[in-house]
Amino acid sequence: MTSPDLAALRPRLPSPVQEIADGRFGRHGIRLLLKRDDLIHPDLIGNKWRKLAPNLTAAAGRTVVTFGGAYSNHLRATAAAGRLLGLPTVGVVRGQELSDRPLNPSLARCAADGMRLHFVDRSTYRRKSEPETLAGVLRAVDAEDAYVVPEGGSNSLAVRGCRALGEELRARADVDVDADADADVHVDVVALACGTGGTLAGLAAGLGPDQRALGIPVLRGGFLAADTEGLQERAFGGRRGDWSLDDRFHFGGYARVPTELDAFAGDFERRHGVPVERLYVAKLLYGLVALADEGAFPRGSTVAAVITGRPFP
Ligand SMILES: Cc1ncc(COP(=O)(O)O)c(C=O)c1O
Repeated sequence: MTSPDLAALRPRLPSPVQEIADGRFGRHGIRLLLKRDDLIHPDLIGNKWRKLAPNLTAAAGRTVVTFGGAYSNHLRATAAAGRLLGLPTVGVVRGQELSDRPLNPSLARCAADGMRLHFVDRSTYRRKSEPETLAGVLRAVDAEDAYVVPEGGSNSLAVRGCRALGEELRARADVDVDADADADVHVDVVALACGTGGTLAGLAAGLGPDQRALGIPVLRGGFLAADTEGLQERAFGGRRGDWSLDDRFHFGGYARVPTELDAFAGDFERRHGVPVERLYVAKLLYGLVALADEGAFPRGSTVAAVITGRPFP
């Protein structure tokens, strides 16, 4: 078995950094940069590239089996990777009841990309990391020698892959600032939206000692499956970098996009011409505006918001 040629997919790395002129930050003396990870690759967008690329290499041509809910960005990215690299993929989807309904647009895209979908009941899904349950699922999809990527893609390889995100924002010389900003930027805070916390764990490890990562969990009650400290422990053997969390901006939970948030995101898109993914990125940007108003960032500081995704068409 051979490793797929990821370089052939021509990822745009380091991803560009764009300065945004927005009075909601400017009036507090804060400079806002967007780290455009959404531009890394048209199908493996944002943190999906950073997390999946090392796993696809490790899969070395084996079938990739992974897990997600019916609207999982991670499932879609894995399916797209399978199509682009010629790898068989299986998506284990939460919710047996979905199996006899028409596929939603997100799952339909997975299927169109060649992913085999296997629906499991919620109790099996919850126990999917227990060895016997996992073995049963792999038997059921006839892929017992598959390479398994956990829900959200946040295993140790993924966390190590996300360290490059921090490293790209670490030294001034590493910052690839586009025509809107000057190249001599020191980033004080790098903020991103968190699901499992895997991207935050890697990001924080890649930042410099005078930089801080700020995570905005989009789920009520914090993380989906893991915790940043535990993920770092497994990936790096200990805690790396400085981070904090502010979990006030989940809007009631994952996949909740109330009108106020949708309007905020639409307005941001019109003002700045940047597409705003609603489940994660909108909550991050909304939270940053609120934090700027609260005086959370000192005057003169530079905040980089990581644009980890793009709206699904
Ligand atoms: C667009 C987007 N942003 C952020 C995240 C959160 O990433 P993590 O699960 O590593 O916290 C996800 C989920 O994977 C996502 O799809």
